[in-house]
Amino acid sequence: MSIPAAALRVVRPVVASPGGVAAAGADYVVVDRVRKVYNEGSRQQVEAVAPSSFAIKAGEFVALLGPSGCGKSTLLMMIAGLDAPSQGTIGVAGHALTQPRAETGIMFQDPTLLPWKSALDNVLFPFLAAKRAVGPADGPTRARAATLLDQVGLGGFHHHKPRQLSGGMRQRVAICRALVYEPDLLLMDEPFSALDAITRDEMNLVLMKMWEEHHRTALFVTHSIREAVYLADRVLVMSRRPGRIIEDIRIPFARPRGLEIGETVEFNEICGHLRGKIQHTPQ
Ligand SMILES: Nc1ncnc2c1ncn2[C@@H]1O[C@H](COP(=O)(O)OP(=O)(O)OP(=O)(O)O)[C@@H](O)[C@H]1O
Ligand SMILES: [Mg+2]
Repeated sequence: MSIPAAALRVVRPVVASPGGVAAAGADYVVVDRVRKVYNEGSRQQVEAVAPSSFAIKAGEFVALLGPSGCGKSTLLMMIAGLDAPSQGTIGVAGHALTQPRAETGIMFQDPTLLPWKSALDNVLFPFLAAKRAVGPADGPTRARAATLLDQVGLGGFHHHKPRQLSGGMRQRVAICRALVYEPDLLLMDEPFSALDAITRDEMNLVLMKMWEEHHRTALFVTHSIREAVYLADRVLVMSRRPGRIIEDIRIPFARPRGLEIGETVEFNEICGHLRGKIQHTPQ
């Protein structure tokens, strides 16, 4: 596939540091007039995403909020390079996106762990899948996976199988798996929505801590207004299907953030504002 000239124009080159993290402040993900129509031309045609444009800066944590079926997952899958836009272009790290990138880490609602592998081997799975050697010889990779598990509080569970872990623990393993490749971009599609409220709060704290430590550019899809405001630097709101961006607000809270910010007047005012936008979202 040739790279559309328009994509090259809108995507400003980003200089990556040796650690793979781009210079802060530059646009890292550029979504330019992206539209998605499923089953185009057939009677089942569905316009999932109306032409939408936005950019995510390097190191920024952006949440994407919107009613069910408005096209959030569709947009995320296109930014992952797992599906192609019907129109428009997406640029990541200064390049027009034409296929999935090894440098993008993805987390879904279901942690999809391999039941016969230990927590540690599940974290290492991206390397096994890419047929990269991860034996005793590859100490640094194994050591990084072990450190990640320690960082999410699974220090004593490296050799446990998924069935021996709780739902929250399995999602912690999935966070480590998404980070083990040292991704420059982390895409998350409602990763905690199947968890109970207390575990979800805990996972938000774990994710915040990991993000503050690793500081990757992140896009987080959620139905939860409070989760979006707690986690993100910026919240984008999508309209009902066909989804387009109808609101883009900056979240002013300093980091590190504790869960107690959820009790403040300012936090609740922002949530109220977003709730109003979603409730009155135009068709
Ligand atoms: N592969 C597909 N083929 C046809 N239609 C699809 C396909 N995937 C999604 N759709 C349709 O596109 C629209 C947007 O779906 P999408 O999954 O992106 O929504 P969403 O905002 O993620 O919803 P939710 O919050 O419920 O997860 C829906 O109407 C859905 O039925
Ligand atoms: Mg979805």
